[in-house]
Amino acid sequence: MKPVLVWDAPTRLFHWLFASCVAAAWLSQDTDRWLSVHVFFGYLMLGLIGFRLIWGVVGGHYARFASFRYGPLAGLAYLRQMASGTAARHVGHNPAGSQAVYLLLALGVVTCISGILTMGTEEGQGLAARWVSIGASGVFKETHRLCAWLMLLLVIGHLAGVAIESWLHRENLPRSMVTGAKDAERGTIASHPHIRVGAMLAVAVAAFGAWWFFYAVEEHIEARLGVDDGDKGVPHVAFVGRALPDDPLWREECGACHTPFHPSLLPARSWRQLIDEQDQHFGIDLGLAPPVRQSLLAFMTANAAEQGSTEAAYRINQSLAPDAVPRRITETPYWKEKHARIGDSGWRSPKVGSRTNCVACHQDALAGTFEDAAMVIPR
Ligand code: HEC
Ligand code: HEC
Repeated sequence: MKPVLVWDAPTRLFHWLFASCVAAAWLSQDTDRWLSVHVFFGYLMLGLIGFRLIWGVVGGHYARFASFRYGPLAGLAYLRQMASGTAARHVGHNPAGSQAVYLLLALGVVTCISGILTMGTEEGQGLAARWVSIGASGVFKETHRLCAWLMLLLVIGHLAGVAIESWLHRENLPRSMVTGAKDAERGTIASHPHIRVGAMLAVAVAAFGAWWFFYAVEEHIEARLGVDDGDKGVPHVAFVGRALPDDPLWREECGACHTPFHPSLLPARSWRQLIDEQDQHFGIDLGLAPPVRQSLLAFMTANAAEQGSTEAAYRINQSLAPDAVPRRITETPYWKEKHARIGDSGWRSPKVGSRTNCVACHQDALAGTFEDAAMVIPR
């Protein structure tokens, strides 16, 4: 018996990066604040899978799919042998391990793609921004969730398998995934990953992705949000939805007393009523001349909530009864539900002052996008 290189460096790098992606994505799944981190690891995972598929053809001997072409039945048979303690030792992937590899790669692809579609529909961001209507987001989200759970189960199964195998064959399998070497009989094929370049390529791609994510894009977002640097606490936002339609006249007329509320936050019928009653706007006569009224109304109705240009627009519109004509955004069921947790003291805090001071908590309120990651709650 002598040590033989089994897991070549790119394969090991892939293995640990992939494992980190699963862990990081799992830990960052719940809160909107970590959404961009979650998404980053998703894209990274997809990139890694792409690399692994190529490496499965051109990589070292044991990394090639051709070296572990076992069917599902062989995998099950191997599990049975493991249970009875008679499973043979494999230098490369054993039949059950092979199935785990294939399943994890397949589930990884479906999880990432359904995640990208969820982001594209629900948040209007990322690769699939606005491919499909936001109404379809439920299907993608459920698929995403289901696949993520299946991946977690598979990972647990994989860890159990590694533990049992290590014990059964008295060898340290986790260590071999670090050093790449395993003891094997003389004459066993060693992995010859002549393509060291493969590893360097993977590192270069990952480094470029990280740089792009954390610096280049952030600057672009800061420009969009009008924030000059990170000290206001804007978390890294990888993907911003497209900029919403704007109108200088509207900004001037409707931004004089309060921040202009983007038309996408109320349905067209509300804007019509607001302009009709502009002489009694919450107790104030706006004194708008008829041509100004017409021009404002055209802009506001063309970009009203019904257009579903953002998640907020879509959900606000969905939450309204068809005949409801809310005068306030802050009266719509969706808005109320989203802000129910904020108590009176929250609204009255000196940095907020009122419900309509959206900018106090949403740094992109002026842009009208209300991205999750642009939310900063003043203390
Ligand atoms: C002369 C000052 C003034 C101007 C100009 C003005 N508003 Fe207002 N607006 C107010 C006041 C005051 C309120 C009530 C604020 C409050 O309750 O916090 C209000 C409230 C609102 C609300 C309800 C906010 C909510 O959801 O609670 C909307 C919507 C609104 N304005 C839209 C507009 C639009 C559209 C224009 C431009 C056509 C406009 N406003 C121009 C003074 C103004
Ligand atoms: C005191 C801080 C505060 C103010 C002021 C505030 N919000 Fe929010 N808003 C929040 C918080 C916190 C959430 C997150 C709720 C959650 O994640 O469930 C939220 C969520 C939202 C969402 C949903 C975002 C999403 O995609 O999940 C929208 C849309 C929104 N706010 C619009 C507004 C508008 C419009 C105004 C002004 C009229 C406003 N908010 C004022 C704190 C605030």
